[in-house]
Formats: sequence, C-alpha cells, structure tokens
Amino acid sequence: MKGVVLAGGLGTRLYPLTKITNKHLLPVFNKPMIYYPIETLIEAGIEDILIVTGGNSAGDFLRLLGNGKKFGLKHLNYTYQEGEGGIAAALSLAEHFVDNDRFVVVLGDNIIEKSIKKEVNIFKQQKEGARILLKETNTPEKFGVAEIKEGRITKITEKPKHPLSNFAVIGIYMYDNNVFDIIKTLEPSGRGELEITDVNNRYLEEGKLAFGVMDGWWTDAGTFESLLRANNLVYERERRDKIK
Ligand code: G1P
Repeated sequence: MKGVVLAGGLGTRLYPLTKITNKHLLPVFNKPMIYYPIETLIEAGIEDILIVTGGNSAGDFLRLLGNGKKFGLKHLNYTYQEGEGGIAAALSLAEHFVDNDRFVVVLGDNIIEKSIKKEVNIFKQQKEGARILLKETNTPEKFGVAEIKEGRITKITEKPKHPLSNFAVIGIYMYDNNVFDIIKTLEPSGRGELEITDVNNRYLEEGKLAFGVMDGWWTDAGTFESLLRANNLVYERERRDKIK
C-alpha cells in the first residue's frame, strides 16, 4: 500500500498568510501542517509516500522534509503540480508512483485525532474499488456530504446548500489504480476544478465505494476558522498526552 499527500494549491482562502508561502508549510501548534498527514500515513504502516506540491515555495518542502529522516523514513518522493486544477488533477500526478498498487491519499490540510490503521486494514481486504471516511459535522455545507439511506451511501454532493446529512467526506481516501482512468474522464466543475467528489461518485455508481466512520476529531485547516480550530485541537491533544 502506498501513500500520497496532496500539498499543492494556492491556499487563497488564507490570504495573506499564503501570499508568499504554501498553506501546508504554515504552523499548526508546534509543527508545520504537512507533518500531520505524513504522520497519519506512517502511523497506519505506510512508508512509501509521494508528496504532490505546487504553487508557492514548492522547493521549501524539500528543505523541510528532505528524505523523511525525521519520520524514520529512508526516502520520500516528490512531484510538482503546474497551475491549479483541483484535488483530482493533483492526484493524477501520482499515476506513475502508484503503478499497479493501491494507495491512501491524504489532503495536506486534514488533521485527525486518532488512527486510520483499522480502516486501511479493512481496505487491504477489499477486492477492488475505493473506501472513503466520513465524520459527522455541524457544518456539512463546507464539505463533500454523503447522503446515507439504509446504511448505504446513495450520493455525495460537494458543498451542498441544503445538506441531506451531517456526514462530511473527510480528506482521506483509499483507491485502487482504476482511479487514474476515472480522473481522465472528468470534466471541470463550476469552480473550474476536477473534483474528488466526482471521482467518489463514479466509484459509487459502479458499486465499488465502501466507507467507514472516523473515531475522534477531524478538521481541515484551509480557512482562518479551521486553521485556528486545528491549532487548538492539536494543542489540547498534546496537553492531554503530556498529562498522561
Ligand atoms: C475538499 C473536498 C471536500 C472534502 C474536503 C475535506 O474540499 O472537495 O469534498 O470534504 O476537502 O477537507 P476543499 O478543501 O477543496 O474545499
């Protein structure tokens, strides 16, 4: 199983914090944001990792992370996304790296309290297709939202005005290598991006989309409010762990 961290984009929702640097290099409590998704993968036993970056300060990732020695890795892979194109466009750059394997993608600004190890192990047993992770939220309209009927996802809608459930699709996705063929058929959305939600809906239509519900807290960190929330949640976790 391989791992991909998506750390590109212009981070315009965080201007002027991201005017001269990349969102994923900003601090979240005591570490750069990109550390958290890398740790999520490593904790789940995934050590063959590709960082997809782009936008501002792409070279700084190499300066910061090198070959991943700090994380106990011998090697890290990097690729560069030219321009903006959305999550699915960034993901398509992982095709050579993934090859015939399967993989876990983590959006570089998604931070979780607990582990995804159990979920990754379930995906390892899955014959084909994709597995996504859901988390209940009070603000589903800010995310991809999964409509669930009788224990099954019926549809995923990207940032719906009138969400049909409180289940956000979090930015951790597991795919087989068929994902790259799906991405090649996508059309840009209203915001001009190749949407990861369209990828997941395609797997759903094919009857190959499984899901799990996350334990513990989850947050992204792409807006001022969520970045502050991420800082506070990580701080609280560190404080709790220290007391223990
Ligand atoms: C992206 C996805 C969305 C998902 C979210 C998780 O949103 O499009 O479906 O719920 O990440 O962080 P974006 O951050 O691009 O607005």
